[in-house]
Amino acid sequence: MAENRGFVIWFTGLSGAGKSTLTEMLAPLLRERGHRVEILDGDIVRTNLSKGLGFSKEDRDTNILRIGFVANLLARNGVVVITAAISPYREIRDQNRALVEGDGSPFIEVHAAATVAECEARDVKGLYADARAGKIKGFTGIDDPYEPPHSPEVLLQTGRDSVERSLGELMSYLESRGLIASAAIAR
Ligand code: ADX
Repeated sequence: MAENRGFVIWFTGLSGAGKSTLTEMLAPLLRERGHRVEILDGDIVRTNLSKGLGFSKEDRDTNILRIGFVANLLARNGVVVITAAISPYREIRDQNRALVEGDGSPFIEVHAAATVAECEARDVKGLYADARAGKIKGFTGIDDPYEPPHSPEVLLQTGRDSVERSLGELMSYLESRGLIASAAIAR
């Protein structure tokens, strides 16, 4: 039954690209349709599971592999897992994909593709200004790498499209893959 199938929705994108916002809006929509949903958000994971880790490549990789490990455990037990971490390195994302798919769960990579300029123009947390001022070193997109996915399942133009539009595109994709019941059938 579609309702009981676990899978991973893996957001990737710059800080401020809209990953957390989309995640928070997506989760209740999926719950309404009968799915069990857990969120693994980078900012939150870094206060518990990954507490003490910084932003070196090694620490980011550790953080992302931990998120992938937990996501896989949940997904193989029927939970829909939404992850929202920058996850800047392609190879590490692909390792998580291999882990999740290897255990039989779909892995849906979603690129929140807002550009540095777009994220910086919003700068919700003021971190881009700090990075430009040199107060934060090694900030993703400024003086640290971000490797976009080559062929994500879903590519969202979160820098220019509305949140509603991006959310709609993602929901349509999940429906088209048969991962979630369509709204009409769910009721
Ligand atoms: S990741 O690289 O390991 O995937 P993660 O998503 O967990 O990153 O955390 C990113 C968040 O940490 C950003 O949204 C921002 O609030 C904060 N942050 C603090 N320092 C940095 C930095 N140097 N680079 C990117 N984000 C940072």
